Amino acid sequence: MRTQVAIVGAGPAGLLLSHLLDRAGVESVIVETRSREYVEARIRAGILEQSTVDLLREVGLGERLAREGDVHRGIYLQWPRERHHLDFVDLVGRSVTVYGQTEVTKDLGRAREAAGQEIVYEVTETAVHDIDSERPYVTFTDADGAAQRLDADVVVGCDGSFGPSRAAVPDPATWERTYSYSWLGILADVAPSTDELIYAWHPDGFALHSMRSAKVSRLYLQVPNGTDVAEWPDDRIWDALAARLGHGQDGWTLTPGPITEKSVLPMRSFVQQPMRHGRLFLAGDAAHIVPPTGAKGLNLAVADVALLAPALAALLRDKDPALADAYSDTALRRVWRCTHFSWWMTTMLHKSDDPFDAQLQLSQLRWVASSTAAATGLAENYAGLPFGY
Ligand code: DHB
Repeated sequence: MRTQVAIVGAGPAGLLLSHLLDRAGVESVIVETRSREYVEARIRAGILEQSTVDLLREVGLGERLAREGDVHRGIYLQWPRERHHLDFVDLVGRSVTVYGQTEVTKDLGRAREAAGQEIVYEVTETAVHDIDSERPYVTFTDADGAAQRLDADVVVGCDGSFGPSRAAVPDPATWERTYSYSWLGILADVAPSTDELIYAWHPDGFALHSMRSAKVSRLYLQVPNGTDVAEWPDDRIWDALAARLGHGQDGWTLTPGPITEKSVLPMRSFVQQPMRHGRLFLAGDAAHIVPPTGAKGLNLAVADVALLAPALAALLRDKDPALADAYSDTALRRVWRCTHFSWWMTTMLHKSDDPFDAQLQLSQLRWVASSTAAATGLAENYAGLPFGY
């Protein structure tokens, strides 16, 4: 098989890249280890920045998003006995939209299918070769067990932090921060008990009330690393959420409901540089991981791809390498901004072992909630900096 751009990974980054390349007249083939059903059901965050929404709309992917996405003006920040609303629209003129990554992936999958995009699912033993040459290629075993080779002008790794692409870059610089806590996340068939997301600091640990629709709530609890979901029967989860989210305070109540999904998510910050080696480019989780607080992961992957698609089009169609040569440095500016913001939100809100930290966190929360300057900083980062930052 031969194509212009071989894309490894059919998550949102890979699918959106193929969509943008197609619009620019560049051909691609995607290979993916999982099945389409698995990729589309994989539960991830559900908050889209303004730039992500604008891009999806601009490239013809905004129809269901406009109908089903829920535009939020801001978030609530809270700690015991206090809840404050930050209004991003007032602060920075930008909003966010609640629309699950699962839905973005389904919309992309349908659009790619309608366009006749070649996507090879359920491959194994994927490997990337000859990225230092002008003729890189990808090998894999297809679902029938046949060895395959995909020749390309460029290979793009959209295959996450465990995929083969990241590991194919020789001697990269890497940075990592691990955290001593994880999130226990649930999906519940119950109307959200709040109109906008609540980020709650609490002496027992962080809690977040998010949502997926008018009928489905998504909530998270800070738990120690190594927590087994079996230790958390439904009643224990709802009791902890009620305590940490302030059930009963100022007349606010948390309505529990049937839990349909429960899982423990580890938290990690990771950046690998450069995001390009020869004819291999990395995008999304293949190059960087953020902890979930602030919901930057998907938005950052979209920002990478928004930069990479025109760069590859210029390289392959017009033989102009300038944007492709600048891709890694340009993308990393935003990557480090989001890495800092995600770390900042995480460390401001999670219980640590040191009581000194708790006092600093409370002081910082009070400052963010009461100072327009501080609130604007949070809003600018949360609602998302414009592409090109
Ligand atoms: C969600 C996840 C986040 O990390 C966050 O900050 C906000 C929302 C979510 O899954 O809905």
